[in-house]
Amino acid sequence: MPADRPPRTIPELVALKRAGRRIVMLTCYDATFARLLVADGAVDVLLVGDSLHQVVAGRETTLGATLDQMIYHAGAVRRGAPDALVVVDLPFLTYQVSVEEAIRNAGRVLAETGAQAVKLEGGAPMVATVRALVQRGIPVVGHLGLTPQSVHAMGGYRVQGRETHAAERLAAEAQMLEDAGACALVLELVPSALAARVTADLAIPTIGIGAGAGCDGQVLVMHDMLGLVPDFSPKFLRRFAELAAPVRAAVREYAAAVRDGSYPAAEHGFE
Ligand code: KIV
Repeated sequence: MPADRPPRTIPELVALKRAGRRIVMLTCYDATFARLLVADGAVDVLLVGDSLHQVVAGRETTLGATLDQMIYHAGAVRRGAPDALVVVDLPFLTYQVSVEEAIRNAGRVLAETGAQAVKLEGGAPMVATVRALVQRGIPVVGHLGLTPQSVHAMGGYRVQGRETHAAERLAAEAQMLEDAGACALVLELVPSALAARVTADLAIPTIGIGAGAGCDGQVLVMHDMLGLVPDFSPKFLRRFAELAAPVRAAVREYAAAVRDGSYPAAEHGFE
């Protein structure tokens, strides 16, 4: 793969780890932003996260996202970024009930959206599912640490793996997911030292969010890193822009122009 372009296949993504090139992942939920995110070749992977249920739909948790919603948004992202590597979250209860349902649902995501991989949450209980999907040609990204679909069991959005036994379990489950065939692993809200250790132990890339600089790549929710959600400021987040203020200013200016009659002007009308 040329070093100057983003990966287009799952093997190319995995090869970035061997090449020592850090992986850049961002969430994306629509065609307009997909087009913008890939325009400069800066982003390696677009993740259609089930965080869309919070960011786009305004819900408290990711739990209510449906497969049809994920497919709708993933299709939009694919149309906006036809060459991009697109990973789609399998939503809650679309892969936990049975391996058969997981295959059918993950297969639908790939077949109906053109995405290259699915992501699912969980460790040991998901190993058989990951293996079954991979054996059927469906690439899988794992997700350990804070797994938002388990937010109620975890008692909130808290750092995971601080205690020795929890750290050992997470490290063991990371290895199990790799052995089952996962092509990459998201580590969310995990102590930096533990994430670095898991990253060193695995051949597949780790992609961190609140997991420190020792991961092979990083992922952020696009709306958060663009500063569109000004009252959301977790410790791990860096805002790379403050877009809420210019959006509000533009809307105020539009409203004023409509009210004072300066918009639309003559040149905006038709003969
Ligand atoms: O749903 C999502 O956006 C995610 C990322 C935060 C990793 O899973």
